[in-house]
Amino acid sequence: MAARKKKKKAGARTQARRKTPRQGAKKAKTQRKTSRATASRKKAPARKKAARKRAPAKKAPARKRKVKGLTAQDMARTQREISVAEFFAKNRHLLGYDNPSKALLTAVREAVDNALDACEEGGILPDITVAIVHVKAGTGTRGGTQDEAAKGARKRGGPAGTADRYRVTVQDNGPGIVKAQVTKIFGKLLYGSKFHRLRMSRGQQGIGISAAALYGQLTTGKPIRVTTRAKKRGPARRLDIVIDTQKNNPKVLREGETDDLPRGTGTRIELELEGRYTKGPRGVFEYLHQTALANPHAQITFTPPETGAEAHVFARVVAELPDQPREIQPHPYGVELGTLIKMLGATGSRRVTSFLQAEFTRVSAKVAAAMVEEAEINGAKTPKRVTRDEAERLYTAMNAVRVMAPPTDCLAPIGEEALEEGMRKEVEAEFYTTVTRSPSVYRGNPFQVEVALAFGSPLPADKAARLYRFANRVPLLYQQGACAMARAASSISWRSYDLQQPRGGLPVGPLAILVHIASVWVPFTSESKEAVAAYDEIHKEVRLALQECGRRLGLFVRKRKRLAEAERKTDYITTYLPPIAEALQDLLQLSDGQTARVAKVLGSTLRKSRSS
Ligand SMILES: Nc1ncnc2c1ncn2[C@@H]1O[C@H](COP(=O)(O)OP(=O)(O)O)[C@@H](O)[C@H]1O
Ligand SMILES: [Mg+2]
Repeated sequence: MAARKKKKKAGARTQARRKTPRQGAKKAKTQRKTSRATASRKKAPARKKAARKRAPAKKAPARKRKVKGLTAQDMARTQREISVAEFFAKNRHLLGYDNPSKALLTAVREAVDNALDACEEGGILPDITVAIVHVKAGTGTRGGTQDEAAKGARKRGGPAGTADRYRVTVQDNGPGIVKAQVTKIFGKLLYGSKFHRLRMSRGQQGIGISAAALYGQLTTGKPIRVTTRAKKRGPARRLDIVIDTQKNNPKVLREGETDDLPRGTGTRIELELEGRYTKGPRGVFEYLHQTALANPHAQITFTPPETGAEAHVFARVVAELPDQPREIQPHPYGVELGTLIKMLGATGSRRVTSFLQAEFTRVSAKVAAAMVEEAEINGAKTPKRVTRDEAERLYTAMNAVRVMAPPTDCLAPIGEEALEEGMRKEVEAEFYTTVTRSPSVYRGNPFQVEVALAFGSPLPADKAARLYRFANRVPLLYQQGACAMARAASSISWRSYDLQQPRGGLPVGPLAILVHIASVWVPFTSESKEAVAAYDEIHKEVRLALQECGRRLGLFVRKRKRLAEAERKTDYITTYLPPIAEALQDLLQLSDGQTARVAKVLGSTLRKSRSS
């Protein structure tokens, strides 16, 4: 129906264009104007003109048909609102759905991130199950970039670019979702509880799970199925939801009650989508493995799509929830002029000074007074009456006056101990060290950096170190090159810690590096949340944390080298002990028993001298 409508419109437009030359004098005037304007342009290719003169035998090329430009009125007919759902349906790569394997990962990630967020907000230790079922082999060439398609096809021996169909199920024991919200959460893009607040959480844009539902709908035509129980007792609600992309609104296809959900509160989402299940460093398994590493308080059970595959349990190793991060108000140093003007218009405060105190963190009466004085504004003025010029002065003053750094109990880092537990559980090595830096601030937003290093066998000694990147406990698997964390890791001089390092790269050796940034607002480089923007403050903090861990690693590496060297020497000298004993036997006429004793004493003296 929509398509038909569009056709009609397009038809109308071409008709309108054909009619224009026959329009009245007014139009003719403008036409003359345009032809005069274009005349000078036509003169420009003088050489061509000369060539035409020299070759009169050739028939002059037909004059270019004058194409009449559209008028503002013509254009107005085609100008209309673009629904955010339509926009993202066309630009799926912006949300992480640019190829089949990434699409599958992104969908799982959005659901698991939400499950973890919901459990933590509800004060519940997360118990999450993820299952991926292969529904049918793909036949089309949809979804992938050429490279991806070729690679996948080669591996599976199938036709180029095929994406298979999978059913993804993610279930949590979180607080559930109330009836009135379910449809909007899953059937409306940019709808969520996290965007309008400054609180550390995995999701922030409100475009996570609804985008996964949209992608599933686009590639399979099927709705997302949500089963949720928000009260401990009673039946669960089950809904099949699709998104009306033109309106960016949910449409419920089926709704009912069911008992098919474990007891207590919780949510299960099921969706079908086209994707590709890969096992590599960017696959779902790796994502869950890393999620377990950074969330040792979560229990995650995963059933992969391979036939006959058993469920894999990423066990909980820390029985306590992380501290609940507090929500904070914006810091004066982080606000932008436009936002300030909006806030001035929307506030319930009666005076500018009380507005500043009420809406920003760390602004006391004294600080507010200093700000208005600096801005040369009457502090008693009603915020709504503040003019644009005054707002600009206030904005400058807010950045000029000294304000205490924002409070940092809004951040919940993993913590050095839990991070080491997580690392030990998931990465086998000989040496572990972790650092949690104290909080810092970029553009008024508090953030905190943590680093963990795992070193030694069985990690491969001849390869570049493996880098694990996390933002608010979520593993980032794509776009490493564009990420502030990777750049900082490559900028460190690892040679000072006795590791090899190619120029400008990560060190080579049996090393795994983990970097975590926790913030009330992680500055991702795009909506698909794959890389962190390189703010100077973030770069510096990551470097400092890496250097601290690196120094400890350097001590360990050097000590290990020293021990290995001593061992080697001891072994070497030991080989000479029997000949020395024999020589002594000859010289001193010792009995065999005495010789054996001498050899023993020599051996133990050597060991003692080496170990001291
Ligand atoms: N499993 C869940 N349990 C409870 N609430 C959920 C769950 N999944 C999503 N939500 C709610 O739906 C909102 C929208 O989710 P989403 O589209 O992923 O955006 P975001 O996570 O960025 O806010 C969340 O903010 C949260 O309030
Ligand atoms: Mg989310």
